[in-house]
Amino acid sequence: MRGLPLLVDGHGREHRDLRVSLTDHCNLRCTYCMPAEGVPWLPKATLLTVDELVALVGIAVEAGITEVRLTGGEPLLRADIVEIVAGLAALEGPGGHPEVSMTTNGIGLARLAEPLAEAGLARVNVSLDTLDADTFKRLARRDRLSDTLAGIEAAGAAGLGPLKLNTVLMRDVNTAEAVDLLRFALERGAELRFIEQMPLDAGHTWTRDGMVTADETQAWLEQVFHLEPVPGRGAAPAERYRVRPRGEPDATPLGTVGIIASVTRPFCGACDRLRLTADGQLRNCLFATAESDLRTPLREGAGRAEVTRRIHASLASKLPGHGINDPGFLQPRRPMSAIGG
Ligand code: 5AD
Ligand code: SF4
Repeated sequence: MRGLPLLVDGHGREHRDLRVSLTDHCNLRCTYCMPAEGVPWLPKATLLTVDELVALVGIAVEAGITEVRLTGGEPLLRADIVEIVAGLAALEGPGGHPEVSMTTNGIGLARLAEPLAEAGLARVNVSLDTLDADTFKRLARRDRLSDTLAGIEAAGAAGLGPLKLNTVLMRDVNTAEAVDLLRFALERGAELRFIEQMPLDAGHTWTRDGMVTADETQAWLEQVFHLEPVPGRGAAPAERYRVRPRGEPDATPLGTVGIIASVTRPFCGACDRLRLTADGQLRNCLFATAESDLRTPLREGAGRAEVTRRIHASLASKLPGHGINDPGFLQPRRPMSAIGG
């Protein structure tokens, strides 16, 4: 095997993980992500086709990417999703086939989990912020809790694991459910990850005081559970904890829980992620204010060398951190649904 090429940025961070947004559309309107209405959709002609996705991700895999995470908007809304997964899973670089995973709201998984697993999808992260239908309707502005729950069951049955569930706690909306959500995940052998809300909502309503912190979340969980840190985090955003019943530090663990404290305990120093938007723009950070256009050169017939050069140029300009905690912080122009988690 050839040596794995290094995608190293100006701060010595090796990049292995590419998050690929497949669409900015979604069948939900989560308040922390999208506006209720009036979304400025990407022009359809700018969206990467299956062939373009396979070509661009293929170049990235050749350059050293080993993990590809499909995101959105909602990736399952792409009619060609099974074909996309099959094309990406078949890619081969110096590190072998990339691991292809997906972040989804789960709606549609009841139908697609099996074919996606067959096409080579390794695992899914499903967003689950509440187990209460009314709260779901308030938070996601759509009445689809039962579809998400059916999707979670289908993912388990299709072997798309280890299954991860993502929860964003919002004050006075779903904070009272933290323990119930964790119990739900533990019962299914899934790992729940609590993600601090980041300033990425289309309405720019995020405030530091409104945000539920990782410390608060942990304090709520510790009223019921004993949490023991799992060592060896690497480049992963989540700090992981073994979960046991409170007061029983020697009991068999019930499972693990993750805390993604992007705001209060930033983990930019270990970041190994690059992002490709649905319209073919490479971003070196969720919070980057600049993007590097890969779609235009690809459509104009540029070869692998030119695209690889642009990937390395984007890496070279990656900042050391997201700067959310700096006084001059600017929220990116695109909302989360158009960047891809
Ligand atoms: N802050 C934190 N997490 C967010 N997500 C979407 N918007 C935000 C935000 N503003 C989460 C979704 C999904 C993952 C891709 O990112 O809940 O699980
Ligand atoms: Fe859709 Fe995910 Fe955004 Fe919710 S967070 S609106 S499910 S893209």
